[in-house]
Amino acid sequence: MEKINIGIIGFGNVGAGVVKIIRERGANLSSKIGLHLEIKKICDKDTVSKRNVSVDKSLITKDAHEIIDDPKIDIVVELIGGIHPAREFITQALNKGKNIVTANKALLAVYGRELFALASDRGKNIYFEASVGAGIPIIKSLREGLVANKFNSIYGIVNGTSNFVLSQMSQQNYSFDEALREAKEKGFAEKDPSLDIEGMDSAHKLSILSYLAFGRLVDLSDIFVEGISCVTNADINYARELGFAIKLLAIAKKEKDELELRVHPTLIPEDHLLSSVGGVFNAIYVSSDLAGNLLFYGPGAGQLSAASAVVSDLVDLSHDIKAGLFRPTLKISPDTSIKKLRKIDDIESRYYLRTMTLDKPGVLAKIAGILAKSGISIASVSQKEKGRQEAVPIVMIIHSAKEKDMRTALGTINKLDIIKQKAVAIRIEEL
Ligand code: HSE
Repeated sequence: MEKINIGIIGFGNVGAGVVKIIRERGANLSSKIGLHLEIKKICDKDTVSKRNVSVDKSLITKDAHEIIDDPKIDIVVELIGGIHPAREFITQALNKGKNIVTANKALLAVYGRELFALASDRGKNIYFEASVGAGIPIIKSLREGLVANKFNSIYGIVNGTSNFVLSQMSQQNYSFDEALREAKEKGFAEKDPSLDIEGMDSAHKLSILSYLAFGRLVDLSDIFVEGISCVTNADINYARELGFAIKLLAIAKKEKDELELRVHPTLIPEDHLLSSVGGVFNAIYVSSDLAGNLLFYGPGAGQLSAASAVVSDLVDLSHDIKAGLFRPTLKISPDTSIKKLRKIDDIESRYYLRTMTLDKPGVLAKIAGILAKSGISIASVSQKEKGRQEAVPIVMIIHSAKEKDMRTALGTINKLDIIKQKAVAIRIEEL
């Protein structure tokens, strides 16, 4: 049987998962694909720590060039994460004629254009199923299963850590810090958990999804990003009373000839499917013109789910190699009806607004007056506690307003001496 030689750079959690799957299911995979997947070399800086799979010492190296420069290796799997030296390793491997599998969302979001162009130039492919939603086959679905469609929107819960934190706050009444501590202990979080919590990991994934759906690999600076650290247990509870759940959403939405891309905590109707996505689970809700509205759901992080996606890429690439095929995976044609990226200032949405104010006459009138001055209309108001000396919460739902106007009004409201804490404003999506 023809052999496909694989070199893995990065023998961490996911790398070990890939080795485990190929070890345990190699024969089964071979019978399915008619090719033998051979792990020829594994590279990691740490050659000492125990993994949950044992490998022959002769396979392990600290030197990535034993993989990159080995002419027998067909596919290089990059699983070290981060920008450097992953970018350099992939560049060198492409220049040496290797095909690539990577799970590196940050790298693709920042250097995707450069790497895809190089791959195309060299007639090689880069596959990246594990970069979004771990084992959920969302990349393959957008690229292949839905290839005939045009997309209207994508709403993704694509960061398991943030979703876990919000779920624990909502269901167990954990504080933000307690919930984050647990997420870190469970190993979902990035090395730098602020990437999860402040929304950047979701932005990396959104940039990949919007590339596949809309043919645009945008600069990260074109994605508006706001994390979940402003969300409190109280907000989750008030939102629930109003019939909403709070989720960190990655949103790509086409309206007329504009595309908007944003990541932020969002109130969504409690009866929407996305509201019931709890814990570390991810879900991507895709609205397409032919196949309709589709939901892709599953664990968004974890050793074997991510490794499952990597192995799926290895199988696809093995078929390509056998067929002598260059699949311009990444020559995705842009949606030409999109003329510009909509700036966050021009986005309109409804808002949940919570202010903490003293309970005394005229307070509400002042806040309402400032909103009115910016042309912003209030849909509902409720004061959550009464007659206390310290600040009490006033929760409002704001009718659809322009972001720019809302920001101006909030700037003024936050300067009032009756305001005891910075106001919390969270966008509402009707979905
Ligand atoms: N830190 C990421 C998450 C891991 O929490 O979703 C998977 O990309």
